Amino acid sequence: MGKKTIWLLMVGVLGAYYLYTPLPDNIDEPWRVTWQVVPVKIDRFDVHEFPFQANFIELLGLYNFMDIIKILLHVKEVPPISDENITVTDTTFNHIPVRVYVPKKQSKALRRGIFYIHGGAWTFESAASQNNDLFSRWTADRLDAVVVSPNYRLLPKYHFPIQFEDVYNSLKWFLRKEVLAKYGVNPERIGLVGSSSGGNLAAAVVQKILDDPESKFKPKIQSLFYPALQILDMDTPSYQENSNFLPFRRLIARLRSEYLSIDRSLEKTIFSNQIVPVESSHLLKFVNWSSLLPKRFIKGHVYNNRTYGSSELLKKYPDLLDVRVSPLLADDKKLRSLPQTYIVTCQHDIFRDDGLMYVTRLQNAGVSVTHNHIENGIHGLLSLSGLKITHEMKNQYLSWLRENL
Ligand SMILES: *[C@@H]1O[C@H](CO)[C@@H](O)[C@H](O)[C@H]1NC(C)=O
Ligand SMILES: *[C@@H]1O[C@H](CO)[C@@H](O)[C@H](O)[C@H]1NC(C)=O
Ligand SMILES: *[C@@H]1O[C@H](CO)[C@@H](O)[C@H](O)[C@H]1NC(C)=O
Repeated sequence: MGKKTIWLLMVGVLGAYYLYTPLPDNIDEPWRVTWQVVPVKIDRFDVHEFPFQANFIELLGLYNFMDIIKILLHVKEVPPISDENITVTDTTFNHIPVRVYVPKKQSKALRRGIFYIHGGAWTFESAASQNNDLFSRWTADRLDAVVVSPNYRLLPKYHFPIQFEDVYNSLKWFLRKEVLAKYGVNPERIGLVGSSSGGNLAAAVVQKILDDPESKFKPKIQSLFYPALQILDMDTPSYQENSNFLPFRRLIARLRSEYLSIDRSLEKTIFSNQIVPVESSHLLKFVNWSSLLPKRFIKGHVYNNRTYGSSELLKKYPDLLDVRVSPLLADDKKLRSLPQTYIVTCQHDIFRDDGLMYVTRLQNAGVSVTHNHIENGIHGLLSLSGLKITHEMKNQYLSWLRENL
């Protein structure tokens, strides 16, 4: 048997094994969610023990771990096809590929502009993935806005800060006077939007662009869907409560270590919350869920003192505490300058508390924040089309944009 045959056999076995899908208890429309998550599991995404299985396949020397997940993900991409309302084109902004959606109907006034950063753990998906293409198209149509979605370079080939820089540089290009004029976009009405790891990038990029003297125009709002905002603490109540649901704590530790470096030892350090050495302990207050989470989310969880990490490791990998990796590390002075913000958090999501802590910190800094907490929501809702809660979430977001952008 060739390597590929062995591989296919293993995928078959794994697929059968994971047909059973654990879901949180109080999910609406559980059958629909299961129906959608099962295919996600089999040919798209991670599963409960999946990181271990992928590690195993990797040990056999068949494929690199990240490539295995990429193959399993098998994200369906769609070409840039215009429809009756929207013209869709693939082009480049400052050498970075982007997909642009422009409404067809004439408009006397300049339009709103939305810069949408897709999710997928800095690894999977693209602007052309079906879920992202649908969302961008829908936004352009319903909001009558020009939507730009960058195809930043991904893992496993490219590591931080490439993803950040690609997004940053393409956004800067979009914010140029002549580019905005070309697409008929009003410079005063630009929104930066991101989901999951795209929410991480959106939060990081907006913090930086505000201080960039080369960029005259700034986003008016930011919208973050279930963003991942820090890598210092993987023991927040939401991590503890949801470590068995997609996207799994262990897989996240692996993805984060891949994001920062090819050094596998980082995975353990990140997984065990030991990246902060004692001399950087002042940073812990920025991600201290004991003081930043509303009481009802803390419930019975106890905040234990952190175990400090090694200074040597941080010297070798200063990116571990880079604010562009963990936007929650921005100080209050920086937060005060941020634009009006819309944040979606989902109850049954590992990243819930990242979003909640950012809501608290932004509010404490005086930023106007609209927070939509989805009580029965799970991570990645935007990709689970057809669900009632997804539909409601999108419509609430759209109304907010109509009022505030
Ligand atoms: C185009 O716009 C019309 C009018 O709003 C709408 O009924 C139709 O569904 C839209 N088409 C697509 C493909 O979204
Ligand atoms: C975290 O917050 C709690 C409660 O406000 C406080 O007692 C504790 O000292 C804080 N720890 C750190 C490391 O900031
Ligand atoms: C945690 O650290 C604080 C301050 O460093 C200390 O006062 C407290 O006793 C520690 N708590 C535990 C449970 O070790």
